[in-house]
Amino acid sequence: MARGVEREFMNVLIIGGGGREHALAWKIAQSPRTRHVFVAPGNAGTAADAENIDIPENDFAALIRFAKETKVELTVVGPEAPLAAGIVDAFEKEKLRIFGPTKAAAELEASKVFCKDLLRGADVPTADYHTFRDPARAIRFLREREDVPVVVKAEGLAAGKGVVVCEKREQAVEAVEQIAQEKIFGEAGNRVIIEERLHGQEVSVLAITDGRTIVTLQPAQDHKPAYDGDTGPNTGGMGAYSPTPLVGDELMHWIEEHVLVPTVHAMKRMRRPFRGVLYAGLMITNQGPKVLEYNARFGDPECQPLVMRLKTDLVDVLDAAARGELDQIGPLEWDPRPAVCVVMASEGYPGKYSKGHPIRGLDEAAALTDVKVFHAGTSLRDKQAVTSGGRVLGVTALGDSISKAKLQAYTAVKKIRWDGAWCRKDISDKAMR
Ligand code: AMP
Ligand code: GLY
Repeated sequence: MARGVEREFMNVLIIGGGGREHALAWKIAQSPRTRHVFVAPGNAGTAADAENIDIPENDFAALIRFAKETKVELTVVGPEAPLAAGIVDAFEKEKLRIFGPTKAAAELEASKVFCKDLLRGADVPTADYHTFRDPARAIRFLREREDVPVVVKAEGLAAGKGVVVCEKREQAVEAVEQIAQEKIFGEAGNRVIIEERLHGQEVSVLAITDGRTIVTLQPAQDHKPAYDGDTGPNTGGMGAYSPTPLVGDELMHWIEEHVLVPTVHAMKRMRRPFRGVLYAGLMITNQGPKVLEYNARFGDPECQPLVMRLKTDLVDVLDAAARGELDQIGPLEWDPRPAVCVVMASEGYPGKYSKGHPIRGLDEAAALTDVKVFHAGTSLRDKQAVTSGGRVLGVTALGDSISKAKLQAYTAVKKIRWDGAWCRKDISDKAMR
């Protein structure tokens, strides 16, 4: 594809250690352009498909030292925390090529106030909102207006937990008190947003951009609530599938034109050019799609079914984006078959859970056709994969239809066991309604 004349063998470093990073490592390791793929710190799955490096994702100095000593040509950042802390700025200062937004651009995810103000300024559809620094004023605002359902959000990063969807006024008042007075999410609650509650199906539309050119990925749908039928507490995501029939070609074009393009232009105008993954969390309302939030990285677990379907060499795309040459990349090629990813979790997640349980049946699951078991919260103990996180595995399968992909994913899930393993049983059913 692009840069055909200059193809070189590259060492690639992936930052992070979850399911998304395993999916990225697995895909990147298949590229004919890669020599070595390193993951810092990685997990038991990335240890098999790539090489783990024992450096935490927030130790920029050690990561930079490793990248220089090992001649890493491209670094790819998985999670939001190092992006918000400026890992891209730190690498670029050392003239190291890295895929991801700068600290200033990652504000789009790290500050919900920045995001909402940008959306409003760029005329991108989103829920109406008000921002408050003073909790007393926020509470007065709630008491003085009609008692309608609202959503209360902490401004900053709160691991997906800083959002409270409220049915009644008193619930909203309590959320403001907890976020802005008791500071249960710390500094993330310095400002609160009170916004209109929207209704509809949620979809994830991700795009890769170099700040000028946008390459849109296929639409996906996450499953954030812990239990079947979208009940229970919110999680990082209990499963995902792609494509979703909720977003056809026409709607996808509409989203590109009215959401992604104006956002990328607005970031450029604000002198915060956005380079990396622009992930729009959208709600498909009766008035059309509206942005719930932006993330500045691949979704986890959306990344897993997406890379399983992607046929284009991901290294070509990420490298071109990091170089600012995404216009050299044609449209992406996809496996037309849908993919479904079922997250297997530890007992107790998203609350407290224990770790260190040996995971059995991984080889049997891997032997099934069109199945890939991505690791998330796992580590190695005497060469045995054991649990080390809440979301442990993302069992992903392709199929000729969504229901066949679902069946194959759950067939693989049934082969895998450990003490306390559980998963949602209805991943992708929303597509079939
Ligand atoms: P966010 O982190 O902003 O995506 O919010 C987390 C979750 O809260 C979303 O996935 C939605 O399920 C829900 N949510 C956020 N904003 C709204 C809204 N304005 N109306 C209804 N639900 C919302
Ligand atoms: N799957 C939701 C997220 O990555 O934020």
